[in-house]
Amino acid sequence: MSRAIVTGASGGLGLEFAKLLAADKHDLVLIARSAGKLDAIAADLRSRYGVNVETLALDLSRVGAAAEVVARVPECDVLINNAGFATNGRFDEIPEERIREEVLLDVLTLTELTRGYLPGMRARGAGRVLNVASTAAFLPGPFMAVYYACKAYVLSFSQAIAEELRGTGVTVTCLCPGATATGFADRAHANTTRLFKRLPVANAATVARAGYRGMLRGRDLVIPGFFNNLVALGPRLSPRRLLVRISRKTIE
Ligand SMILES: NC(=O)c1ccc[n+]([C@@H]2O[C@H](COP(=O)([O-])OP(=O)(O)OC[C@H]3O[C@@H](n4cnc5c(N)ncnc54)[C@H](OP(=O)(O)O)[C@@H]3O)[C@@H](O)[C@H]2O)c1
Repeated sequence: MSRAIVTGASGGLGLEFAKLLAADKHDLVLIARSAGKLDAIAADLRSRYGVNVETLALDLSRVGAAAEVVARVPECDVLINNAGFATNGRFDEIPEERIREEVLLDVLTLTELTRGYLPGMRARGAGRVLNVASTAAFLPGPFMAVYYACKAYVLSFSQAIAEELRGTGVTVTCLCPGATATGFADRAHANTTRLFKRLPVANAATVARAGYRGMLRGRDLVIPGFFNNLVALGPRLSPRRLLVRISRKTIE
């Protein structure tokens, strides 16, 4: 039996990853801020799948959060860096504290957790990392500028270390979903954007399954859905200035 960590496991995609891992008999460490939700999910997964489930109620948008996780859970065979959020609005009007938390959670904690667990995985010659980016990784996002830039980082970082680790038995997969029905749009105040009102919105279980399967196969990149693959092709098909304008229309 192996141990898997899922960040952002109190709902949305993270909860779906937790269910898939439990069904495959992994012991779990579930992390998010909502202790009550995590405890209820843990009890349900224990009784349905007979696996051990620990919960860590932590705010991962703080400096030092990843180090705290690694100190409390020193070993991990499957790391799913899923927690993340976006903020919709003009960059110069978004509170500085919110921007800081977004970068800390979406970029720094993901990077430090990966750094914390890769040495153990390499020493054992086996391990899986799944980093959740977004189709936002492929283009700039006016009115969600920080989020799109953070996800571009996650994609670049993941593909680079996937290459470094080739042949070691440790794989890094980057999942790039498009709009998906979770708590995400509400939290980002993005429910009224074209992105969520006019474009296809995927089911969370379907997206998580695609990412999970890709991770098991050791794929570097998973883009679930035909439309999202078109978005990912955007930078190759259109000039960047045009792309930014189109992107703006979907988020504004
Ligand atoms: N839904 C989409 O349309 C979409 C599209 C592309 C990519 N993504 C990415 O998918 C990932 C999962 O998002 P989701 O769609 O499942 O959104 P969600 O339903 O809002 O879930 C986000 C999860 O992250 C946790 N979280 C948020 N802030 C946290 C913090 N400071 N510390 C610890 N945990 C925190 C939340 O739990 P607590 O509130 O309990 O802390 C929750 O469990 C994110 O990285 C997101 O960027 C989503």
